[in-house]
Amino acid sequence: MLKIGVLVSGGGTNLQAIIDEIEKGTIGDTKISFVISNNKNAYALERAKKHQIPAEAISPKDFENRDAFNQALVERIDSYGVDLIVLAGCLLIIPPQLIEKYRNRIINIHPSLIPSFCGKGYYGLHVHEKVLERGVKVTGATVHFVDEGTDTGPIILQKAVMVHQDDTPEILQRRVMEEAEWKILPQAIAMIAKGIVSVKDGHVYINCER
Ligand code: GRF
Repeated sequence: MLKIGVLVSGGGTNLQAIIDEIEKGTIGDTKISFVISNNKNAYALERAKKHQIPAEAISPKDFENRDAFNQALVERIDSYGVDLIVLAGCLLIIPPQLIEKYRNRIINIHPSLIPSFCGKGYYGLHVHEKVLERGVKVTGATVHFVDEGTDTGPIILQKAVMVHQDDTPEILQRRVMEEAEWKILPQAIAMIAKGIVSVKDGHVYINCER
């Protein structure tokens, strides 16, 4: 049984995609042990509660300083004993000690084809605004392991999405979510649950024989 913990900050559509695929059985032998948000108003927390998943908010605002928050977050996550941490629309700066402790066991979904349109300042709608500003014809989404950089960890899966001439950032964001994010994030979790994903020298290998 792969036990996963999901970190969220917003609407939780990627979390919902994971919940739906687990309930449909396309992600085998996997359980969501917790959902934690840095934003107490995140609708993602409501989505978790509707599916009887332990859900809570831990906000940096409730701590004296960032170090105290980081320590509390790591201790809370550790208390659940998960195998994999999933960042699903999570806008939190991940504590370095968590990355170290869960090396190649934290994954993130980014709404572009890394290394394009990623890094500092590239999150949410901003990504799609820049895609349209540059005039690229193809964009997409990427699932990658999280390392100390911003969107720089080993790439697990990517899926391309066509940009339409009359796209607005909002329309494009929705298409990237529907056609890419909500498919490849559950798919990556399913692959990890099957134990066919490995990392060597910063590259991800999928063992298709298993
Ligand atoms: C979306 O912009 C998505 O592209 C990115 O995070 C934002 C919120 O996602 N991954 P969600 O609906 O909270 O999963």
